[in-house]
Amino acid sequence: MTEILVLYYSTHGATRQMAQLIARGVESVAGCSARLRTVPRISTVCETVESDIPVAGAPYVTLDDLLECNGLALGSPTRFGNMAAPMKYFWDSTIADWLKGTLIGKPASVFTSSGTLHGGNESTLITMMLPLLHHGMIIVGTPYSETALMSTTTGGTPYGASHWAGTESNQPISEAERQLCLAQGRRIAEIALKLQGATL
Ligand SMILES: Cc1cc2nc3c(=O)[nH]c(=O)nc-3n(C[C@H](O)[C@H](O)[C@H](O)COP(=O)(O)O)c2cc1C
Repeated sequence: MTEILVLYYSTHGATRQMAQLIARGVESVAGCSARLRTVPRISTVCETVESDIPVAGAPYVTLDDLLECNGLALGSPTRFGNMAAPMKYFWDSTIADWLKGTLIGKPASVFTSSGTLHGGNESTLITMMLPLLHHGMIIVGTPYSETALMSTTTGGTPYGASHWAGTESNQPISEAERQLCLAQGRRIAEIALKLQGATL
């Protein structure tokens, strides 16, 4: 089985919904399964420590998930045009895997949800790619053969899926955004399948 790690952080649930759609796209490809994982919140004041098991949603990611996956879809809300601190904090803990080359040659894609349509979703997607490039991953975008990229009046970019959640975080995922999440899941799964067994 080719396994894709769908790793996300979400406060209000929009990025989690996108992760679930991407996982559905992954699992629509024969021989592929999705492993949904999240990261805990962080705090500047560590008065309490989060439980190892989240109250709801996907389990917390471990470094074994990076080792065992054949590909990655990484999602975060847009925070000041960049990924959210809990997700960055997780990547800052992966230095041993960087040294070992755990992720070298594996395909990766990125997705985000933002409050406004032009509030930095593309810069978030591009900056999320940087640690993945340092890890030696192969970045996978979405080609314009996905026609929703041309017709969308909400989110959706060639750099990765995006969702325009609105300033009240109450806009549902549009049909174009949904199509692009599913397509991204399918594409990362198909590319991981093709790369498996290839010598890089
Ligand atoms: C600290 C902070 C910074 C944010 N920065 C941006 C931003 O730069 N651009 C934007 O459009 N939305 C911004 N937002 C809004 C979130 O990106 C938006 O609510 C997103 O849909 C949340 O995703 P979630 O439902 O997965 O938590 C910010 C929100 C917070 C809390």
